Amino acid sequence: MDQLETSYENVDGYSISRKVKKRMRDEGFFEETEGLTYGEVRIDEFAALLHESITSFAPNAKTFADIGSGTGKAVFAAAIAMNSKLESFIGVEIVEELHDTAVRVLDDLKGSNAIKGIEFHFGDSFEIEDKWVHADVIFAPTTCFTDDLMSRLEQALEKLAPGTLVITTTRKLKCKRAEKLLARRCKYAKGSLEFMVWKIN
Ligand SMILES: C[S@@+](CC[C@H](N)C(=O)[O-])C[C@H]1O[C@@H](n2cnc3c(N)ncnc32)[C@H](O)[C@@H]1O
Repeated sequence: MDQLETSYENVDGYSISRKVKKRMRDEGFFEETEGLTYGEVRIDEFAALLHESITSFAPNAKTFADIGSGTGKAVFAAAIAMNSKLESFIGVEIVEELHDTAVRVLDDLKGSNAIKGIEFHFGDSFEIEDKWVHADVIFAPTTCFTDDLMSRLEQALEKLAPGTLVITTTRKLKCKRAEKLLARRCKYAKGSLEFMVWKIN
């Protein structure tokens, strides 16, 4: 955990995201920046929520995926909290600069025992669903998802196996297969957010 905090010392995902959004707006892309609003988990809080959720509701889970992984903090939190249970930790991020940062942190931590089975993919999660729909635990940081992203998420949920856990922030799932198991306000990197854990039936 200390080594991870050190690797993130000079990483500011908020500032990277702000610069990318400004550049896109300067180039005339406005709507495209709507779903890109940035925020980060607190590694300790997210690790604790994940540990409790997986232990209670998905004890046989093997794969975790974050479908808007930013600089990768939730993926590393999962790897640290669950490295003796889960085998694979996947992050998908649409902003190349954020994805590159996650890959740099991963390179930095290569050799650490806690950091095994991590992969980051650059792209739109809903165009490369094959990278994550098979996961047993999926984190969808939905607070700033647009309605369009929410409906693409709802469509993707239809492809998930029964028993898959989905964790959302702020926004609820409408899918009839999704049953809410837990809702909790957790500290976020800035402020706090409501996290909800859903099981796909
Ligand atoms: C609120 S941030 C969460 C970052 C990280 N999951 C965390 O909690 O620390 C949401 C991220 O989702 C990314 N994002 C938005 N739409 C996406 C899409 N269609 N595919 C992949 N990433 C997306 C944004 O660029 C942003 O980095």
